[in-house]
Amino acid sequence: MSPDEARMLIQKAWETLPRAYAPYSRFHVAAALLCGDGSVYTGFNIENAAFSPTICAERSAFVRALCDGKRDFRAIAICGGPDGTPVDFCAPCGVCRQVMREFCSPDDFQILLAKSPEEFRTFSLRQLLPEGFGPENLGPSKRGDSHADV
Ligand code: THU
Repeated sequence: MSPDEARMLIQKAWETLPRAYAPYSRFHVAAALLCGDGSVYTGFNIENAAFSPTICAERSAFVRALCDGKRDFRAIAICGGPDGTPVDFCAPCGVCRQVMREFCSPDDFQILLAKSPEEFRTFSLRQLLPEGFGPENLGPSKRGDSHADV
C-alpha cells in the first residue's frame, strides 16, 4: 500500500479512538479496515459488564464491513492505549488474528500498528499468525468465495 493510504488509514483509526467503549479495562482500541474497493470501515472495542461479551476493535470493523457485503480486505490500522492514549504499538489479540485469517490473504493483508499518526509498524498477517489454520485447511470444498465481494 502507498504511504498516503497508510497515513489515511491510521488517521481514521486515530479519529475513532474516542468512541471506544471500555469502562472496565479503560484500554481503548480503534481500528480502520481498508477494503479492496477503497472503502474504509472503522471499529472500536465494546466492553460489557459481563466481561466475556466484549468485542475487540478489529472484529467490530470486520463485522461492519462483512454486513455491508465486503469480502475483499487489503489492510487494517490499529491503535490503542490506556484511557485512549497510545503509549505503545497495540497488536491484535489471537482471536482477531484468526478472524482475519478467515477472510484475508496471509501474505497480502497488511496490519499497521500505530503508536502515533506518524509512527507505525507494518506486518503481514502471516507474520502475526504463522502456520495459521484457515478455510482451505478444511478441504477444497470449503475454499469457496471467502475473498470475493458478495
Ligand atoms: N482489545 C482490542 O480491542 N483489540 C485487541 O486486539 C486487543 C484487546 C480490547 C479488548 C478489551 O476491551 C481491551 O482491549 C483490553 O483487553
